[in-house]
Amino acid sequence: MAVTFSRDEQIAFVEIDNAPVNAIGVAIRQGLLEAIDWIEGQGGLERVVLFGKGRVFAAGADVKEFDVAPIEPHLPDILSRIEACEIPWIGAAHGVALGAGLELFLACRYRISAPGTQLGSPEVILGVVPGAGATQRLPRLVGLEQALKMISIGKPVSAREALENGLVDEVAEDAVSHAQTFDLAKFGKRVAVSRLPNPEANVEAIKFARSAAAKRLKNQTAPQKAIDLVELATELPFEEAMKRERDCFLQIREGAEAKALRHIFFAERGARIPKWLGKTESEQLASVVIVGGGTMGAAIAYAISAIAKKITLIETDEDGVLRANENVNRIVQASLKRGLISKSQAEQRSSIIQATADYSKAGDANLAIEAAFESMEVKKTVFLALEKALPKQAILATNTSYLDIDKIAEILKNPSRLVGLHFFAPAHIMKLLEIVRGEKTSDVALATGYDLARKLGKIPVLAGVCDGFIGNRILARYREAADILLMDGTNPWELDEAMVEFGYAMGPYEAQDLSGLDIAFANRKRLAPMRDPNRRYILISDRMVEEGRLGRKTGVGWYRYPGGSGPVIDPLIEDLIREEAYFAKVERGEYDAPEIKRRLLLAMINEAAEILHEGIAQSASDIDLVTVSGYGFPRWRGGLMHYADQLGASAILKQLEELSDEDPLMWKPSSLIIKCVNEGIRFSEYQK
Ligand code: COA
Repeated sequence: MAVTFSRDEQIAFVEIDNAPVNAIGVAIRQGLLEAIDWIEGQGGLERVVLFGKGRVFAAGADVKEFDVAPIEPHLPDILSRIEACEIPWIGAAHGVALGAGLELFLACRYRISAPGTQLGSPEVILGVVPGAGATQRLPRLVGLEQALKMISIGKPVSAREALENGLVDEVAEDAVSHAQTFDLAKFGKRVAVSRLPNPEANVEAIKFARSAAAKRLKNQTAPQKAIDLVELATELPFEEAMKRERDCFLQIREGAEAKALRHIFFAERGARIPKWLGKTESEQLASVVIVGGGTMGAAIAYAISAIAKKITLIETDEDGVLRANENVNRIVQASLKRGLISKSQAEQRSSIIQATADYSKAGDANLAIEAAFESMEVKKTVFLALEKALPKQAILATNTSYLDIDKIAEILKNPSRLVGLHFFAPAHIMKLLEIVRGEKTSDVALATGYDLARKLGKIPVLAGVCDGFIGNRILARYREAADILLMDGTNPWELDEAMVEFGYAMGPYEAQDLSGLDIAFANRKRLAPMRDPNRRYILISDRMVEEGRLGRKTGVGWYRYPGGSGPVIDPLIEDLIREEAYFAKVERGEYDAPEIKRRLLLAMINEAAEILHEGIAQSASDIDLVTVSGYGFPRWRGGLMHYADQLGASAILKQLEELSDEDPLMWKPSSLIIKCVNEGIRFSEYQK
């Protein structure tokens, strides 16, 4: 463990060993220091080969250490010692050299990489800046523009690109072997990277990087600070700039943004099959059936075509089959155009997906996913057909967004086969997968859902049965709170602007226009008989649908989309709102952006707390994953419950109590919030 060192004649070997990803924590730093001392005490060495054990060179600083005070020895000092060594160090990277891993690589005098290695400075993705010299060494080595590209948005480069930009000297299949034999003289006598001249200033490149980072990592401070530091490389001597980099790194890692991004980083990695389910064998995923070739079904089929051998896409009739094929083809062509797949992959994935109206063609499948029309009757018909057509052990999954899966399961001879697999549109891109556990869902069905998520690279979140599960249930409250504000004194663009200011990519009304107003409308109609008659119900969204304003697809919704462009503010909407308010006898007031944000967020937090309390979600961090990966909650705020914990349960309760004077039903505080206040615990600490 940590760092091992040895020599073979004139070559010293230093191996970083900290499974699984060689994160550079205190033990590695200590080990490197010991290796340097040992090397300096040796005679007759010609080179030192530095490499990583296992699947990577090094994935960066150990992020877990970011929550405690810095522990000696510090990496910048170690890197200076490596650079100052009389014997040249040769970095031999494979897998990844990221963050502090790249900084270590940069301190080496020569750099070899295996093909396929990813090299980068992804610190800004975690809300920090490099802390051991990347902002100074990288621009000196590869030039300002290339360094800005890598550091400002945290996107790594491939070994091939690294060879082109001078970050690596040679690419070799076996980087460690090559590092032992390649001819050092070929590159002449080299100085350490820190001793290279300052890169030339380039105002345009800095400006471009700032605007690209502001677009890509909107509202985040780390990218702009990282660019400031790279810019310093053009002005200051190395040592002086290094001090500035270190100070900035130590300060920024303590900030709320960095903490939130760390939280999501670890939550994503923690989202995997639960321990109690870990040993359950999942069903094979070689042959999969998808029922419904609409946009969702086709996208699910396309996603799964990356891992299955056969996909049967079932439609109701030959017209449906034609449409399904068109939908699949559209996704395949778009992926090809975006360079996400090669031509041969496109052909292979298209050939795997066979659309048909005949259930018997799916006879050997072990998993079926229903993505048909959102109606209980339709779903029941589909599952009866699937039960008849598929082997007895096949897992049956429904992609329903709202419906009660226990009711669907009732019609099956073996209801334990049924599980909810709720994908998010576009299903081949969105990372989230809600795995819904019905009352009778078997462990094998759940394990199959987790296995599918893992193979597709999705983030699985376990949800219990309720209307809308985790995500859509919170969304319904978000929309309800927004509609009430709309009626009481705002308009869609003020509401949208406030939420964009908070960090959403788009506000609730623009988002509705994108997904289509008819879906939520159908859902409200379905729920109408169950609605509490005392709860306020805002009619305007229904009226929009009745008037054919369904959003982008009809060219008009909450906004107008002339000729497919837009969104453009539609003054008619304001008239419509005033008219509705007049008929509803609502006296309209005024709500500024902070008040809009406060109310919409409180409504969501209150519902999410109930979801947690009822056990629909297993943990606060699962809700964070759902809101960030499926609903556009700003990642840099760490998710809805992480944000709620920053506000504090007491402050939330106080505000809800104040608002419940206005509307006791809408703002009734969740029992979990009261519990957290009484017990002095954070939402993240709550366990059912
Ligand atoms: N510090 C601490 N732990 C880290 C880590 C880091 N820099 N990078 C990864 N890990 C941990 C993960 O939390 C996970 O731990 P777990 O198994 O206990 O959950 C384990 O290493 C494996 O990581 P995972 O992401 O699941 O593996 P992967 O093979 O899918 O991806 C990487 C490997 C290296 C590409 C990916 O982990 C990564 O991008 N890491 C972060 C790199 C980074 O941002 N470095 C700069 C830090 S400032």
